[in-house]
Amino acid sequence: MDEVTFRSDTVLSDVHLFTPNHRHLMVRLNGVGQPVFLSQFKLLWNRDSWRDSRTEDSDSRDIHTQDTPPAGSGSLGSPPGSDHSHEGSPLQASQDGVGTQLDEDGDLDVVRRPWVSSDPDLARPPRDKVHPMILTQEEDIIMEEQAPESHPHIVIKIEHTMATPLEDVGKQVWRGALLLADYILFRQDLFQGRTVLELGAGTGLASIVAATVAQTVYCTDVGADLLAMCQRNITLNSHLAAAGGGVVKVKELDWLKADLCTDPEIPFSWSQEDIADLYNHTTVLFAAEVFYDDDLTDALFNTLSRLAHKLKNACTAILSVEKRLNFTLRHLDVTCEAYDHFRSSLHALEKLADGRLRFVVEPVEASFPQLLMYERIQQLELWKIVAEPTP
Ligand SMILES: C[S@@+](CC[C@H](N)C(=O)[O-])C[C@H]1O[C@@H](n2cnc3c(N)ncnc32)[C@H](O)[C@@H]1O
Repeated sequence: MDEVTFRSDTVLSDVHLFTPNHRHLMVRLNGVGQPVFLSQFKLLWNRDSWRDSRTEDSDSRDIHTQDTPPAGSGSLGSPPGSDHSHEGSPLQASQDGVGTQLDEDGDLDVVRRPWVSSDPDLARPPRDKVHPMILTQEEDIIMEEQAPESHPHIVIKIEHTMATPLEDVGKQVWRGALLLADYILFRQDLFQGRTVLELGAGTGLASIVAATVAQTVYCTDVGADLLAMCQRNITLNSHLAAAGGGVVKVKELDWLKADLCTDPEIPFSWSQEDIADLYNHTTVLFAAEVFYDDDLTDALFNTLSRLAHKLKNACTAILSVEKRLNFTLRHLDVTCEAYDHFRSSLHALEKLADGRLRFVVEPVEASFPQLLMYERIQQLELWKIVAEPTP
């Protein structure tokens, strides 16, 4: 397969969007006939490895320069030292050099606003201009060659699909999983030697990263096919968990069901020992990009609250969310309804007064180091909820 086609009712994660076509190498079909791809996500522990990976990968350089003209290079660029916050709109700017804005047929040639000048928060240190990309996609055997034995711990291999109907979005890697993975690596103290639980884990990437420090990771989601794909990823990366003595257990946990499935006939069901371990030892819950449907958001918050009440210890939940803006006919405006519902659910959780627990909610500033390559856009947010006994 050298070309991927997308049906109009499928969605494609930004993490996979910028992969040049010729690098789409399918490894197999999954249980429902969808093409599965294998990607490597490299942990860039230091600036040198970040630079190396960029010079090794000419495709990534092309993507970078194509979408991100240097400030001042086009008609929208600002002279050195100019105040970006007072720049005119793209239309105003294009009028300055209208001759260069038209193509040969006289059509308007739209030049993108330089990335840095669209950032309104100029007080922050400038972020690296990186774009979501898959560093390599190859068959297993080739990937073994590319991940030298001396550095096996810096490459995470993930099987995923490229575009899916909405009900299968967990088979792709989402940007929020990469943000969450970065946070886990930054706050290793929170995870070190702990029992932790991921909700809506999808491909399992964040769980794999958590397992490099945690003792036990319960990696949960729904759907036999998705859970099988997730289990395969856990197995592909088992050496990462094993290096720190961690173990990942893939389990079904459906937010729409009050009880955990214990039927031994059903794959990824729970044993009584696992349930006891989960309730007795879990101190961290985490979830990435699970707020895209209001009913599911309600179900997830109910699950969070239910679990927090069942856990023996106080717990912290870390949630990543991307504020997606959509134009809706209903409002005739750009809205972010799923995000708004998420925020009001956070608010409701904080106001919940059931006597035994209280939930303290706070945003986490996304200023921690970025070890994975993706575009850490402002709309990508991280939230922390601490569930603790009421004084
Ligand atoms: C957008 S994907 C995010 C996947 C992964 N966390 C990531 O960021 O790459 C949303 C995930 O929520 C899961 N999900 C949806 N409904 C669920 C439910 N009722 N119970 C448990 N998980 C559910 C999906 O299967 C999917 O894996």
